[in-house]
Amino acid sequence: MMSPFTVAIDGPAAAGKGTISKEVAVHFDLAHLDTGLLYRAVGARMLRGEDPTAAAQTLVASDLENPELRTADVAQAASKVAVIPEVRAALLNFQRAFARRSGGAVLDGRDIGTVICPRAEVKLFVTASAEVRAQRRLSELQERGFDTDLETVLADVKARDDRDMTRADAPLRPAGDAVTIDTSELSIGEAVAQAIAAVKVRCD
Ligand code: DC
Repeated sequence: MMSPFTVAIDGPAAAGKGTISKEVAVHFDLAHLDTGLLYRAVGARMLRGEDPTAAAQTLVASDLENPELRTADVAQAASKVAVIPEVRAALLNFQRAFARRSGGAVLDGRDIGTVICPRAEVKLFVTASAEVRAQRRLSELQERGFDTDLETVLADVKARDDRDMTRADAPLRPAGDAVTIDTSELSIGEAVAQAIAAVKVRCD
């Protein structure tokens, strides 16, 4: 594959973009950055009492290794700090540099195809109905031992969608030239196959 080569994968929470991104990265031997982790790391530091902008400006690699980053509380905090333009600005250069590294990269998030990498070689928008996403997130949380129910998870997913889609700065939306993959009725294998096919079209 020619380098640099950027695959931008955006979409709402629990649509399957994390798994798809990892599989696409492995398949094409590209580096992978889950940009949601950056916002989660800032959110976790805010929950510990720090100012979110200061946290974003001083983020270090070890912040991304915090095991609490995957909790529902940190997910909501991430979505809240992501509304702050100064937080987004502080995380911009790192993401852009990662995207253009030699050897190519896959980045997944909410604004990769629209703001971070508007000239990405491939843009995918991975989505699914809120009900399907909540059911998947519930199974994932239960497997990890969290005691919760569908109603709570669905309310969380909808609150996060609403905040991510209506914020003024870099709202979640598909780029005009993105290929949309709706995973509501797809197995993970089928969704990954569609994503790989969409990337192949652009690099053949
Ligand atoms: O992908 P995720 O669920 O880990 O993301 C957590 C939150 O971070 C999400 O609700 C909004 C924010 N986010 C963002 O605003 N922009 C990104 N590129 C990635 C995540």
